[in-house]
Amino acid sequence: MAEGPVAPGDGSAWVFGYGSLIYKVDFPYLDRRPASIEGWERRFWQGSHDHRGTPQAPGRVVTLIEAPGALCRGVAYRVDPAVFDHLDHREKNGYVRHRLAITLDGAAEPVPGLIYVATADNPAFLGSAPLAELAAHIAQARGPSGSNRDYLFELARALRALGSHDPHVHELALRVDAVLGATRRPAEHG
Ligand code: BEZ
Repeated sequence: MAEGPVAPGDGSAWVFGYGSLIYKVDFPYLDRRPASIEGWERRFWQGSHDHRGTPQAPGRVVTLIEAPGALCRGVAYRVDPAVFDHLDHREKNGYVRHRLAITLDGAAEPVPGLIYVATADNPAFLGSAPLAELAAHIAQARGPSGSNRDYLFELARALRALGSHDPHVHELALRVDAVLGATRRPAEHG
């Protein structure tokens, strides 16, 4: 599938990206806008068997958890409906589409759109754990799409580029750095 902006078509729809969709844009889009959604927060609570882990040793990737009053920053794309076939396949490990209102930066009114969300009832859901445990897990997991740590670091970088600080993501990135530093140090000095 071609990547990047394409000419406007009929029947387009907005999809809000809060994870890899922010930085891994392997689909065509009509418009791309920094945006936010209300009432949801990003959490590394979904298991990844197919991208950043394996069925035997799943990684951890983000999903959205309902949280009244929370605001989640990300990027919204206006896409042709055909793009959903691609995204449905890419995000097939437990994610379902959910309709909601998306606030595009600078727009007066929210627009209707979609998110992909992995809810607690999907078999790959791992749920909450202390940040130290999440960091230790992410530091060592790896799957067909690469290391789990790079997924986290790329997301942290992309959010910083949006001017957004997400304490869950950025604290985890610091902790994974610390775990990696601790495991590298004996080799470097030994
Ligand atoms: C996203 O970046 O919006 C996304 C994250 C996980 C699954 C599907 C989409």
